[in-house]
Amino acid sequence: MAVVTVHNLRKAFGRVQAVNGVSFEVEEGELVTLLGESGCGKTTTLRLIAGLEENDEGEIILRGEVVSDPARSKFFPPEKRKIGMVFQSYAIWPHMTVFENVAFPLRIRRLPSAEIRKRVGEVLAMLGLKDLASRLATRLSGGQQQRVAIARALACDPAILLMDEPLSNLDAKLRERMRFELRELQRRFGIATLYVTHDQAEAMVLSDRIIVMKDGHVEQVGTPQEIYECPQSQFVSDFIGMANLMTGEVIEWEEGLCRLLISGNSRELIMYAKKGSNSGPVLVLIRPENVEVNEAEELPSENTWPALVEVGAYFGDHREYILRDGNISIRVKTGPRVILKRGEVVAVHIPRESPVLVGHGF
Ligand SMILES: Nc1ncnc2c1ncn2[C@@H]1O[C@H](COP(=O)(O)OP(=O)(O)OP(=O)(O)O)[C@@H](O)[C@H]1O
Ligand SMILES: [Mg+2]
Repeated sequence: MAVVTVHNLRKAFGRVQAVNGVSFEVEEGELVTLLGESGCGKTTTLRLIAGLEENDEGEIILRGEVVSDPARSKFFPPEKRKIGMVFQSYAIWPHMTVFENVAFPLRIRRLPSAEIRKRVGEVLAMLGLKDLASRLATRLSGGQQQRVAIARALACDPAILLMDEPLSNLDAKLRERMRFELRELQRRFGIATLYVTHDQAEAMVLSDRIIVMKDGHVEQVGTPQEIYECPQSQFVSDFIGMANLMTGEVIEWEEGLCRLLISGNSRELIMYAKKGSNSGPVLVLIRPENVEVNEAEELPSENTWPALVEVGAYFGDHREYILRDGNISIRVKTGPRVILKRGEVVAVHIPRESPVLVGHGF
């Protein structure tokens, strides 16, 4: 049984339709990320699940129990939902010790103090905070404060953990490390987690599945690899990673292959693709790391086009270049030792297996 199911969730603020028909599930032990641009409705979705906002339409089901359904006038307040929450601002209490911060929600629930000591002790140990139990919460590093916020959310033994950009207040280096740490922690606790971020790298590292959102709706759901390798829309192709997007007219389909004429440079491209039901132009994605660059003498051969080197940049572990052929600009990623000169003509080769068919009818 799914830990949380949302079905056709809708919420408007005045004329802004913040969440517009969202459906998904989070399974036991799974970490699912809501990923999307600022304002696409991630936080609102999380707040609806927590019961901090009331949905206008749709259902929210926690472990088989409907906790919100306006059609049946059903609405459980947050305290009846067994949910743990961690926000961007950790909202830990500065005048309390680490122990008291974590114990606070249990005291509100009036648990016996021996039970509180036991549970808080366990959670602090799991999070590597045991030695800091009596320290004032303000005298901790950003990463430690964040762990206290997680410990507090976990102390109540929630069915699901909701996290809204919990790493965004940390500096870049720590944030990067905490991604791995968070992932480890989540796996160790085995707790179903719904995680909100607009950072695609963070989503890639952390998630079992990613839900890409746009303008209050779900664009695509999939594993990080599915989302990166097989995006199903132009938006997802562009949003995750770097993308060369080209449109083309189909010349012919033959046994799992598609022969195209690329608009913009009128070159032929042969790629592996299953024939779709729609006709008309197709949209093709080619990732910069899947384009090869050779000496211009390599021309002509299959999927090999001449291109002018327009601009390049060094990133330490790789280089990136923008090349031009007709009206097409092609971004390529090369090893750090591949040096192309501005104004030089090179041969770009696109192996048959590199392009991905994003859709028909563009
Ligand atoms: N309380 C509110 N009153 C009015 N409008 C709101 C309210 N909360 C959110 N909105 C609007 O709803 C839309 C979705 O907001 P939401 O906070 O869910 O986006 P988000 O995806 O979390 O964005 P961000 O990445 O910037 O945090 C936005 O247009 C926002 O301005
Ligand atoms: Mg938000």
